[in-house]
Amino acid sequence: MREITSITEMRSWSRTERSRRHTIGFVPTMGFLHEGHLRLVDRARELAERVVVSIFVNPLQFGPHEDLARYPRDLPRDRKLAEARGVDCLFVPDASAMYPAEPVARVVPGPVADALEGTARPGHFTGVLTVVSKLFHIVEPDVAVFGRKDFQQGMLVRRMVQDLDFGVAIDIAPTVRELDGLALSSRNTYLSTDERRSALALSRALRTLEQTWRGGEADPMKVQRAGLEVMHAPGVIAEYCALVDENLQPVSRVTAHTVAVVAARVGKTRLLDNVVLGEGIGADPRVTP
Ligand code: PAJ
Repeated sequence: MREITSITEMRSWSRTERSRRHTIGFVPTMGFLHEGHLRLVDRARELAERVVVSIFVNPLQFGPHEDLARYPRDLPRDRKLAEARGVDCLFVPDASAMYPAEPVARVVPGPVADALEGTARPGHFTGVLTVVSKLFHIVEPDVAVFGRKDFQQGMLVRRMVQDLDFGVAIDIAPTVRELDGLALSSRNTYLSTDERRSALALSRALRTLEQTWRGGEADPMKVQRAGLEVMHAPGVIAEYCALVDENLQPVSRVTAHTVAVVAARVGKTRLLDNVVLGEGIGADPRVTP
């Protein structure tokens, strides 16, 4: 596995691979890799001949009071996991290479980014879209794979690529879960044993939302109420529980295509989850113990 920190070296590696007629699949991450990230690698491998993973904890997407400084990092472990999964190139730039100065130009999404996560984290998606654009320009992939777990992020990246004519295909892979339903996240490492138990409030809410809709309820207010009723546990503060379409617009009737998106604070940790109601979280891949 090649490991690259320089932007020019990364671009020249990609161009050499393409000159050899190899397509490039790309998985951007902030590291502290888990099985959710690694399934994105597997997916990229199915879609392309070479796989690049980036690890960069992007300061631009963290608010002033968020967890940038304590975000979990373990490069030696990430390196081993990536290598064992057959990653061809690990791109690990430092912040000084990515942002030698305060950026003047940024990618600012429209109002759809102000809802849900955007309400809780103003400016977050400007940071995400800006770094994803930079990474696409550096790696020049044919296809990039994102996780469904961050539903709003995936949708915004897809729209950015269409709106700004990036020549990159976007693939969204299913959410990988623990056996009990908790969506894998690098931030799960912050949870104490009690908080880990309480964190099941999110997947429990998603199951209840699905069951309520399957039971014949199509009124979004009533389905939402049923979800919120079970989205509590000691230390959990529910932030939102919304029923939206694939463009993140609130639905007037709940259908199989409706996406239920939830966010909650568990102690000091913010967690997100979502499900397409017609698919259910039961269909999502689980980690094997
Ligand atoms: P990070 O949180 O490290 O996630 C990297 C990718 O892994 C994202 O596409 C995310 O949706 C996906 N992912 C996380 N948990 C997952 C799970 N349980 N199942 C499937 N996929 C999962 O998202 C980011 O980093 C950053 O915002 C980034 C896009 C790298 C830009 O900085």
